[in-house]
Amino acid sequence: MKPGAEVVVSQYCFAVYPIVTHLFGARLISVPARNFGHDLPAMLKAVTPSTKVTFVANPNNPTGTLAPREEVVRLVKLIPDGVLLVMDEAYIDFLEEPVDLLPLIRAGEKPNLLLMRTFSKIFGLAGLRLGYGIGHPELIAALEKVRQPFNINSIAQAGALAALDDQAHLARTRANNTSGLNYLQNTFRQLGLEFIPSHANFVLVRVGAGQRVCEEMQKLGVITRPMGGYQLPECIRITVGTPEQNDRCLAALKKALGPTR
Ligand SMILES: Cc1ncc(COP(=O)(O)O)c(C=O)c1O
Repeated sequence: MKPGAEVVVSQYCFAVYPIVTHLFGARLISVPARNFGHDLPAMLKAVTPSTKVTFVANPNNPTGTLAPREEVVRLVKLIPDGVLLVMDEAYIDFLEEPVDLLPLIRAGEKPNLLLMRTFSKIFGLAGLRLGYGIGHPELIAALEKVRQPFNINSIAQAGALAALDDQAHLARTRANNTSGLNYLQNTFRQLGLEFIPSHANFVLVRVGAGQRVCEEMQKLGVITRPMGGYQLPECIRITVGTPEQNDRCLAALKKALGPTR
């Protein structure tokens, strides 16, 4: 990117956006969060003639927050043509009624809109290392110029194609996630632990000394994410598992928190 180029993100955004911004020598503009979620109107206001890219993960990792539908629609409508708006839809399949931006792409109306998807989340195929982008043919043609040749192997492609057709797996995983989220969040309430209501397949929960709690849980064989790197050292991120895994995780959490819980 040219010197002075800016990338607009939200506070508590997915860590990869700041990393790629710095990698390409651009300036990161981080817009303060609103209730831990993206403040899309403020992000729109932060766009200047120097802005080249805006990243919005919706739902967001690590907060699990979902931006209001009308704010997403307004952002997409008002983002200037010269700014690439990347809507990261990694967790979209966990939503019952997501904002559907595909019609805009199909109508060829938004050459500066890129939707990003991955097989790593609801499909459970993170090991394939496969995702895709959906955008206007001109935008995709530009990406093709910098794509590495033969970047996706044929086994990953076969797995992904089979996964796309497996609607039963999707429905099962979505239902497991909804009940698992309810279970985890209800238990946090009973334990008096603050959490951010989640729309993804994980929950951010305030446990005090996040790093220590993660380490204690890991000794019990349960891996969670400490959030110090996101300036949330009092929180950990817990991913929804099967009912048995959720129980095991909560038992480990209670042990790590000590006898008062
Ligand atoms: C918001 C968001 N986008 C994209 C990804 C990328 O996933 P992958 O590189 O496995 O496709 C992740 C994974 O953590 C994510 O949380």
